[in-house]
Amino acid sequence: MKNKILKLLKNNKEEFLSGEKISEEFGVTRSAIWKYINTLKEEGYEIESVSRKGYRIISEPDILTYEEVENDLNTSFIGRNIYYFNTISSTNIKAKEIALKELEGTVVIAEDQTTGKGRLGRDWVSSKGRGIWMSIILKPEADPIKVAKITLIGAAAVNKALEDIGIKSQIKWPNDVVINGKKICGILTEMNCELNMINYVVMGIGINVNLQEEDFPKNLIDKATSLKIAEKREINRKKLLANILNRFEEFYIPFKNSDDISKAIEICRENSALINKEVSIIKGEEIKTGKALDINEEGKLVVMFENGIVENIFSGEVSV
Ligand code: BTN
Repeated sequence: MKNKILKLLKNNKEEFLSGEKISEEFGVTRSAIWKYINTLKEEGYEIESVSRKGYRIISEPDILTYEEVENDLNTSFIGRNIYYFNTISSTNIKAKEIALKELEGTVVIAEDQTTGKGRLGRDWVSSKGRGIWMSIILKPEADPIKVAKITLIGAAAVNKALEDIGIKSQIKWPNDVVINGKKICGILTEMNCELNMINYVVMGIGINVNLQEEDFPKNLIDKATSLKIAEKREINRKKLLANILNRFEEFYIPFKNSDDISKAIEICRENSALINKEVSIIKGEEIKTGKALDINEEGKLVVMFENGIVENIFSGEVSV
């Protein structure tokens, strides 16, 4: 009911809506309406109430609820069901808890994560209200082996969504998006599968949107940045989130329907932070250096090592 009232107010921003009119529309009492309006105010909505005129919405809070992104969303299933939390341990953990019973495309999003997880067991800084911390639940009917390349769909979606709002970024195969060599987005893809069947994939995407320098621990200052720091302006999180979900669906549907991720790979290639650079590939204890040549049609990184041997790398930690 609260969201229905919110939608009505949002669709009638120019005029006052009387408590009587709203209560007739939804068949609830005026005092119930008053309570819902108060809850909305507590959530950060600025709502003017004038006696004998009614209610009018003045401004909306900077929160990433479905109601706040829906206007910019043009997907059919990605992000059509959003679990929104003010604070949570980790959106990936929550997404894995609910994945089996939820529809594909469900998104878990939080303003704050108390134990945000990065790759290789690292912590992920998730400053409250300043980033996009989300996990997308996917259920492709694909061979589990093919899942590694799904991450490239996430990276390409973030890169294109940023371009849509005028921000140029590079993709550091396979999990990161960087600006001027500093990380602004990391992706953690986790899978639950049987031998030849995927139960679900959870793709966790973390984007440093409006973080300030003091939000980063000292050891990350040289390695990570935020869009706000790089662009010297506050970024609209709602619009960016909707763009990412839109772009994600655009690149995911061909993969889901016909195992085609050519578009995402093309974007990763064209905006690569690695191609033609000297790179180190870190696999456990082993570090090998070489030159990144390409990202092939299977989404693997093609590297020529110092001994002249060319290899297609499937996964691993890369440093430039
Ligand atoms: C990495 O670069 O190491 C991956 C970082 C992934 C961070 C995101 S934030 C949303 C989701 N929830 C998590 O706990 N981690 C991912």
